[in-house]
Amino acid sequence: ASYDMGGHDTYMHKEIHEQADAVDRVLRGRIDDRFSTVHLGGLNLDAREARRIRRVKILGCGTSYHAGMIGAQMIEQLARIPADAEPASEFRYRNAVVDPDTLYVAVSQSGETYDVLAAVQELKRKGARVLGVVNVVGSAIAREADGGIYVHAGPEVCVVSTKCFTNTTVAFALLALHLGRTRDLSVRDGKRIIEGLRKLPAQIAEIMEREDDVKKLALQFAEARSMLFIGRVRGYPVAREASLKLKEISYIHAEAYPASELKHGPLALIEPALPTVAIVPDDDLLEKNRAAMEEIKARSGRILAVAHQPQEKADETIVVPKNEDELDPILMGIPLQLLAYHTALALGRDIDKPRNLAKSVTVE
Ligand code: AGP
Repeated sequence: ASYDMGGHDTYMHKEIHEQADAVDRVLRGRIDDRFSTVHLGGLNLDAREARRIRRVKILGCGTSYHAGMIGAQMIEQLARIPADAEPASEFRYRNAVVDPDTLYVAVSQSGETYDVLAAVQELKRKGARVLGVVNVVGSAIAREADGGIYVHAGPEVCVVSTKCFTNTTVAFALLALHLGRTRDLSVRDGKRIIEGLRKLPAQIAEIMEREDDVKKLALQFAEARSMLFIGRVRGYPVAREASLKLKEISYIHAEAYPASELKHGPLALIEPALPTVAIVPDDDLLEKNRAAMEEIKARSGRILAVAHQPQEKADETIVVPKNEDELDPILMGIPLQLLAYHTALALGRDIDKPRNLAKSVTVE
């Protein structure tokens, strides 16, 4: 592909910086202030059908799977429907029980990932209802699905996904709000989420203004041979995605773990040479996350926190703007895209075309 680089040295950098506009696009024309909900015309799901859903199962690969993990949490929190995400590549090989009251959601930037497409086809063969959350209009998965949401991130050229990840999480917030408002989510909470969504583009722009600070941190971390990413509940998928981004483009080994699981094993790894990135949202788990940072400090580990206020237990904090608790995961990974980018740049990597990877994996 040859889209204009718009003064950026890489597509990744350009696409990271396009996120405020991209989020604006996924929201445009969809918010209904009168009923504190959103219109998703392509869902093909009426209110009666929406109320009958007993479970939501989200399927995707790689970054799209991580966006789906965030989406599942949003659906549980806002619509109170049990939801979870699973790699499509695993799902399709385990002869899963296909349940008529479950809504299946296939997530894909390209809409061409073979493992996701095959899972959708298998589900449809068994009579399931499948929605797509897809970026590329008219792609195979979009065509195969019974309906869905286009994420409108615009063309993503860099092999690693950034703006599409962010837009996909916003699309899931819209789906969660929509399902919530056909069920028990109050008008008041609907309004609160809508206000939060409207704040996102300006908050993303704010994160971009702090790029130089993140770049300085990246120069310190470029020396690490391995890094640990931790978060709990809302922070965990953010940690996973940040870890994937770092390994894809810098080739530094990175591992993501729920902070709550540290003491069940990975604490043994902690030493000064293994830096930890901790996702620390200012929500009801703040104290728990602080305790995890304390455990790491007690073992001489270095910590970089991504948080809503400076963390005294961390060596460094990247401060991100606070949104509604449910929407925080949309923003918290964005500075870590910049961290991965500047780390890879410092190491001289081929950022837009990392070794061994393809933009869309259309084979088994
Ligand atoms: C993202 O940075 C990766 N290159 C990869 O994990 C990707 O998200 C995955 O292959 C799924 O692609 P899709 O969203 O186009 O289906």
